[in-house]
Order: sequence, then C-alpha cells, then structure tokens
Amino acid sequence: MLVLGIETSCDEASAAVVEDGVKIRSNIIYSQDEVHARYGGVVPELASRKHIETIVPVVKEALRQARISLKELNGIAATAGPGLIGSLLVGLSLAKSLAYFQHIPFIGVNHLEGHLTSIFLEKELSFPYVGLVVSGGHTNLYLVQGFGDYLLLGKTRDDAAGEAFDKVAKLLGLGYPGGVVIDRLAKDGNCQAFKFPRSMIQDESLDFSFSGIKTAVANFVRERGKEKVERSLKDIAASFQQAVVEVLVFKAIKAARSRGVDKIVLSGGVAANSRLRSLFRDSPEEDIKIYFPSPLLCTDNGAMIAGVGYRYLKEGKNSPLSLNARSRWDLPAASREVNGKKSNDW
Ligand code: KG4
Ligand code: ZN
Repeated sequence: MLVLGIETSCDEASAAVVEDGVKIRSNIIYSQDEVHARYGGVVPELASRKHIETIVPVVKEALRQARISLKELNGIAATAGPGLIGSLLVGLSLAKSLAYFQHIPFIGVNHLEGHLTSIFLEKELSFPYVGLVVSGGHTNLYLVQGFGDYLLLGKTRDDAAGEAFDKVAKLLGLGYPGGVVIDRLAKDGNCQAFKFPRSMIQDESLDFSFSGIKTAVANFVRERGKEKVERSLKDIAASFQQAVVEVLVFKAIKAARSRGVDKIVLSGGVAANSRLRSLFRDSPEEDIKIYFPSPLLCTDNGAMIAGVGYRYLKEGKNSPLSLNARSRWDLPAASREVNGKKSNDW
C-alpha cells in the first residue's frame, strides 16, 4: 500500500511516499528557515504564503524520487493539526483535492501522533513505551499503550523546550532556528561554567517549565554586558543546554519508572540534540532502553504522517473531505485513568 504523506503544520513543507507504513520511498523536506531567520521566529503569515509556493513542487519531487505517479497511490494523509492554521490549510487542502481527483481515501493526521510513532519507520517496537515529544511547539510526555492510545502524563506549563532554545539563541544573537546553533556551539563549551535553573525538577508532577530558564539567561546577559557574553558564548550555550536536557532526561526516566515501563522513545526537533542523546545514552538506568529516530525523522517530515495515515487507512478509516484544520488537537487515549483506575468509557 502506497501512501503519500503531506506535512505543513509549521515552517517545513514536506511530502513523502511510504510503502506499507514503514518503507520510506521518498521524504522531501523544504525548510523555510531563511524566510524566518531575520525575525528570530516563525511568522505565521509568511509561513503559509511560502507553503503555497512550495508544496506542489515538494509533492512532485516526492513522487519522482519514489518513482511512482499519482495514479499508483492508494491513499493520502495530511497533518490536520495541531499547528499554525494558515500553514495547515495549505497541505490539508492539497491533500483533499488530490484524493478527490484520484478517487482515493484521505485521512487527516494528528502531528503529535506522527512524532510519537515516527520510530516505527526505522524500528519494530513493542508497546508500551513512554513517548517524549520535544519540539518547538510541544514538550509532552505520554504513556503509549498502542497505536491510537496515548495517555498524557505531563506537559510544559509555559514554553516548549525548542521554543526556549530558539528564544535564548535570539537573545544571544545566534540566529534562527536556535536549537541547531546552540547544539553546535555547546560542543566546545563547558556545561558546568554557569548554573541555570533546572525548573520543576523537584516537582512531584511530570510537567515541565522552560520560561524561567529563558529569563535567567536574559538576566545573566544583561548583568554581564555584551562583551563578556560574547567571550563566553560557548560556555553559556553549553550551560543552558545542559539545564534543559537534564530536566528532560530526569522527567522521562521518572515517567518510565512510575509506570513500570522499560522503553523511552524520543521524538520532535529537540530530540536531534546531541547532548540530550548522549545524556540518555550514558544514563545509569540499564533496565530502561532509549530509542531515537534518526535526526531527519525527529524534525517535521511527511514520512511520519504517511506512516500514521497508513495505519488508519488499512483499517478502512478515513476522513471526510469536509475535515477542517485544527490549531489545537489533543491526542486520544483509548483508555483513560479515573482516580488511578482504568476506564474505557469516554
Ligand atoms: O519538530 P520540529 O521540527 O517542529 C515543531 O513541531 O516544532 O521542532 C523544531 C524545534 C525548533 O525549536 C528547533 O530549534 C529545535 O526543534 N531543534 C533543536 C535541534 N534541532 C532542532 N533543538 C536542540 N538541538 C537541536 N539539535
Ligand atoms: Zn513537529
């Protein structure tokens, strides 16, 4: 079964052809980083306009690299939310039009479900696992008990981890997107040079908070002055990054322990961070296995959307062509817990 996946929830336009839910035949990603760099963050109106220009060539290239024509597709999946509404509408409208034109089924996919299950494009895993989606828009911990069953265990109460990377990079004058630049600079820095707060690490809950660390770096920069900051950029980057990733690792392991789960799967743009990866790999928790998709599958991509689409389409589930985009969309849990007991009545 050949499924075309289209992703335009933020500032990446991506299209991929995936065979039987796991074999990536093509995965084209057009990043708009250059468009948004000078603003230090994504400008929604510019993102949707750029998607209109690029999405058709991106889809054509995905079909070309997969060596198939539109006629050979068995279904089309597109991200329907959560994300920027104008951006989502571009990919979603194209997917619906193509499905209508080709008389093939269409399915709207939740972007978070794409991230949480992107690992299956590279690896066969058994359930349950703790899934940490850590991106520019989300920092969510889930107990994943099966496809379509995602119990939210914790989330950020303010900024997402990727957002903190981007904002700190902006105030250090490092450009956008900040995660990659900070990751690179930090490699030659001393992560113990400065002490930034590990927000909510002592908190009972599995929630996160990253706005405090951003303020701490802002205060630090103001107090030190431009020249001193520029001289110690690498150490600041490394110390900030260390503070963020320590909290992520601590809470993910705490989630796995509290649920008696022996697997943690990371996904989302920040999961590409090299320090986060090494800290997880070196963690002394020998009984907990850590899985990361390769960096290309961590950031936004069409293959993860095609992968999810396949699982629904093969069960005969599809979406009506009247489906609208949703800026907010919580993932479903097949069973939810009421007072610590499982309940399926929802
Ligand atoms: O998943 P993604 O591509 O888009 C969203 O759904 O948000 O994630 C983008 C985020 C940005 O905030 C970016 O700075 C961050 O992921 N990011 C990183 C790295 N690569 C991307 N953060 C830290 N280290 C990286 N290597
Ligand atoms: Zn994403």
